Amino acid sequence: MQRERRSKSESQRSEPATTGWLVPPLLAWFRHNARDLPWRRTTDPYAIWISEIMLQQTQVKTVIPYWERWMRELPTVQSLVRARPERVLKLWEGLGYYTRARNLQRAAAAIVTEHAGRFPNAFDEVLALPGIGRYTAGAICSIAFNQPVPILDGNVVRVLARLFGIREHPREKDANARFWKLAETLVREAARARRGRFRNCSDLNQALMELGAIVCTSRQPNCPACPVRKKCVARREGRTAELPALGRMQASIERRFVAFVVQRKGRFLVRRRSAGVVNGHLWEFPNGEVINGRADIPRLAREIIGPCRVSLTPCLRLKHTITRYRITVDVFRADVLNALSIRAPGGRWCSPSDLEKLAFPSAHRRIVERIGNDLLADPESVQPPVGGST
Ligand code: ADE
Repeated sequence: MQRERRSKSESQRSEPATTGWLVPPLLAWFRHNARDLPWRRTTDPYAIWISEIMLQQTQVKTVIPYWERWMRELPTVQSLVRARPERVLKLWEGLGYYTRARNLQRAAAAIVTEHAGRFPNAFDEVLALPGIGRYTAGAICSIAFNQPVPILDGNVVRVLARLFGIREHPREKDANARFWKLAETLVREAARARRGRFRNCSDLNQALMELGAIVCTSRQPNCPACPVRKKCVARREGRTAELPALGRMQASIERRFVAFVVQRKGRFLVRRRSAGVVNGHLWEFPNGEVINGRADIPRLAREIIGPCRVSLTPCLRLKHTITRYRITVDVFRADVLNALSIRAPGGRWCSPSDLEKLAFPSAHRRIVERIGNDLLADPESVQPPVGGST
């Protein structure tokens, strides 16, 4: 109890009475230091929405080519509605969390049916679209429409936690409300600030995110480059390494899978994952998880491919991490000796060029790349792509 009281009074003491002083230096800093990113050259809410959903997946430098390709192929809400779902997944391939891509298409359909094809600009209407939460609605409304609505992502949490010396875990209910409130106060102050150009809300929100991305980074923040360093509680108290207080990382869990590259007459067996599972609707090579240590690979092959005679050759070990899972995939070439007994419900036999057109989860895309380099293919059985010359 006493400790709680002490920490509350400390945080009250370190929080300035007003946050207004922060806004002018943040706006000025953003205007001089913002990275020139392609989605910052537009105020089209559709383009900004796509960038925001992609940025939830991965870093800016990975997103740029994805966003540019997406905007070339699907430049409007209408084009997204008309696109084949497989094409949408293919444009998303490699970004992960594929339900996000499917939600984009569902939300585009809702914009056409419920908003006559025009992107809504009322916060509650944006928030009601599939796959759009408080952060994304705030980002679209502030960046595209310059509305004084807050955003809070990992970067903004880090900046605010350090600036105001907030020690509570940002997911804890009261602390989370406090972070949102601070973000809201700042963007409202930006809307009132007379100085500067007219896109203060957009610039202020992006300034907070940008500062977190390039200056107030998790490890080794570049405090001398920070426009608000003079009033930063964490810097003053030497606590930048402790804040935000995210607690200990969850321990990672090792998982092992075995995948089979089954080929016949230059074609490869792939299957589509069902809806409602991780990576649903994407394609993959037949595979299974090894539970409890050592695997009886021939038995696993029979279970997964069918009761056929196969010759198995180990050819590749892939490692990747998804959330807290550290995954190893051992890939075997499976040359089938009596093909009739292959179990291939929902499967498809694909040539190497067909494989290029399907969307695979990242690990399986790497297997396709190896096939493209002929490293997994039986050299005698690979046929040249139809109509292609190599
Ligand atoms: N992260 C997500 N959206 C961003 C933006 N508009 N600016 C900086 N970082 C971001």
